Amino acid sequence: MAIGFIGAGQMGSAMIEGLLNAKAVTPEQLFVKGGSSGTAEALQQKLGFQLINDYEDFKECQIIFIATGAKIVLEILKQAAPFMAENTILISVATGHTVEEAQAVLGNKIHVVHAIPNTPVSVNEGMIGAVFAAEMPSSIKAQALQVLESLGKVEEVSEALLGTFGTVAGCSPAFVDVFMEALADGAVMEGMSRSLAYEVVAQMLLGSAKLAIETKKHPGELKDGVTSPGGSTIRGVAALEKNGFRYAVIDAIKQANH
Ligand SMILES: NC(=O)c1ccc[n+]([C@@H]2O[C@H](COP(=O)([O-])OP(=O)(O)OC[C@H]3O[C@@H](n4cnc5c(N)ncnc54)[C@H](OP(=O)(O)O)[C@@H]3O)[C@@H](O)[C@H]2O)c1
Repeated sequence: MAIGFIGAGQMGSAMIEGLLNAKAVTPEQLFVKGGSSGTAEALQQKLGFQLINDYEDFKECQIIFIATGAKIVLEILKQAAPFMAENTILISVATGHTVEEAQAVLGNKIHVVHAIPNTPVSVNEGMIGAVFAAEMPSSIKAQALQVLESLGKVEEVSEALLGTFGTVAGCSPAFVDVFMEALADGAVMEGMSRSLAYEVVAQMLLGSAKLAIETKKHPGELKDGVTSPGGSTIRGVAALEKNGFRYAVIDAIKQANH
């Protein structure tokens, strides 16, 4: 199956890497059109996909992703639509438009998916929220799902929830990166080397996430399991509460979502 990409910036390149890692597509079957800054050309040198310049070159692609800035998506789709074969699946990962708006531009021979991924798709551990056009045939939906699931977990959500989903899954990696850096700063302050601190912190987060997913325990229950009476961990938890950690995180989601 041939897959196309319009846009290979932060998100486009993360998805391209994930698809190649998962062998969902070979470099020969991957057609990428970049913008004007040379980002796609640099990525092509590294990954060896087919770099293309014209929308016409997408004619072999059964699935086309669009990963450009939100403001230009509908205009680009208008230009690309005449060159898309019947039954092409168009997956937009851009915010700021609805499935219906994209469908109106593309016509009903193209199947539209609106998916909001996050950067861990590059290592196939993404969290992707997806809205499928209501009238999409089940075989087409299965094909789209198979490709998206090669990048991580996919949750079908309503269009109304997609923005909040994108904030929680898409913005939070940056919040977690700040948290990881702060944990490592604390470790360095207590004498640990910077490189060891980052290794310990990243593995701790991976393990904590896996424990939550596999046990399905409430986060409070998992926290209670680590905090022995009068122990050091509960003193750390109290310090986080004293400094408004919980509200800072809630406010980060709220600010990012508006
Ligand atoms: N980053 C995330 O974590 C994330 C998460 C979820 C959703 N998204 C959504 O994904 C979209 C892309 O975000 P991003 O962070 O990847 O932005 P980005 O790094 O700015 O990438 C956008 C890319 O689109 C390219 N482009 C512009 N016009 C084009 C055209 N006519 N044909 C082909 N490519 C064109 C640009 O190329 P040049 O720079 O070379 O011109 C740029 O590489 C946005 O709509 C964003 O809301 C991002």
